[in-house]
Amino acid sequence: MSFRILGTGSVVPDRSLSNNDLAGMVDTSDEWIVSRTGISSRRISSGETMTDLCVKSSLLALENAEVSPDELDLIICATICGDYITPSQASLIQSEIGATCPAFDVNAACSGFIYALDTASAYLSSGKASKILVVAYDSLSKFVDWTDRNTCVLFGDGGGAVVLDKGDDLLGINLTSEGNAEILNIPCHNESPFGSETVTRQFLQMNGQEVFKFAVSRIVTEMKKLIQNCKVSADEIDYVLLHQANIRIINAARQRLGMPEGKFMSNLARYGNTSAGSIPVLLDELNRNGTLRKGQILALIAFGGGLTTGACLLRWDPAK
Ligand code: COA
Repeated sequence: MSFRILGTGSVVPDRSLSNNDLAGMVDTSDEWIVSRTGISSRRISSGETMTDLCVKSSLLALENAEVSPDELDLIICATICGDYITPSQASLIQSEIGATCPAFDVNAACSGFIYALDTASAYLSSGKASKILVVAYDSLSKFVDWTDRNTCVLFGDGGGAVVLDKGDDLLGINLTSEGNAEILNIPCHNESPFGSETVTRQFLQMNGQEVFKFAVSRIVTEMKKLIQNCKVSADEIDYVLLHQANIRIINAARQRLGMPEGKFMSNLARYGNTSAGSIPVLLDELNRNGTLRKGQILALIAFGGGLTTGACLLRWDPAK
């Protein structure tokens, strides 16, 4: 017993920030950003809270799944950008959509959606839940230094949700973590109010080249693990949905795997890296634009802060 995805939903903020807009803020250019990342624009929250965007995504997923909020047994939100440290983002979603079930957040940065799917799968397999809402949303614009050209060109805000039911469509799932704050982190305001240090605002910090190497090697390793553990061939996988961080990461991993370009789905150009939100937004777009067909096999692979990875193989068989 694992799960079946009944429906999907996603929402991105209205405000678009193009590469040319960024070139007016830092020393960069559209040509540099497109050639080094594949990103042309990104969405930035302005006026919308995380709760607003998560609730809209959740209601769209529930409608798509034909499930009402009172049928939910659990809500899990994968995020590192919640509106509050407490209450959790999931609790705020629960209240706003009118659900009465337990709710909690998962922090696994860009791998958060797959971590949340794994947690949901355990609840469904144990019989503790029958219907679960998984939301994955991030708003990294709050934590990016908009004067740092090394990082600010990469990220955007966005995310989505899926409604899960008991089922057998999860063919395999694998998570990894290797604690490392050196190459990717967002600092916490840890200074003691009784210490002598002055508290200054700190932003997302990253060693881009190290993250790049980590991402490519782990995508390849995780894909090979999925193929081996699930006893499917690469040819049987219809679509690969990688975390949307950099088109060069996607292309380098694809070339090492020797898989055709047409199987690797991407919306990176429009949204940039939306952290935990990137795979659910892509999944929802492919669901709603008719790309996905019943019975197809999808590989979802994410990597990011932690350092973490999450990878799963699933059969596509939604409610409609
Ligand atoms: N515009 C113009 N120039 C820029 C720039 C920008 N936005 N950002 C960096 N540069 C400059 C650098 O200062 C450097 O200049 P120098 O050679 O004079 O020192 C030059 O471009 C090359 O920088 P480098 O870091 O070698 O580029 P890169 O090819 O490694 O690409 C990243 C940088 C960040 C795009 C790339 O490393 C990357 O995408 N890494 C993964 C990041 C990621 O995905 N993080 C999230 C994971 S969840």
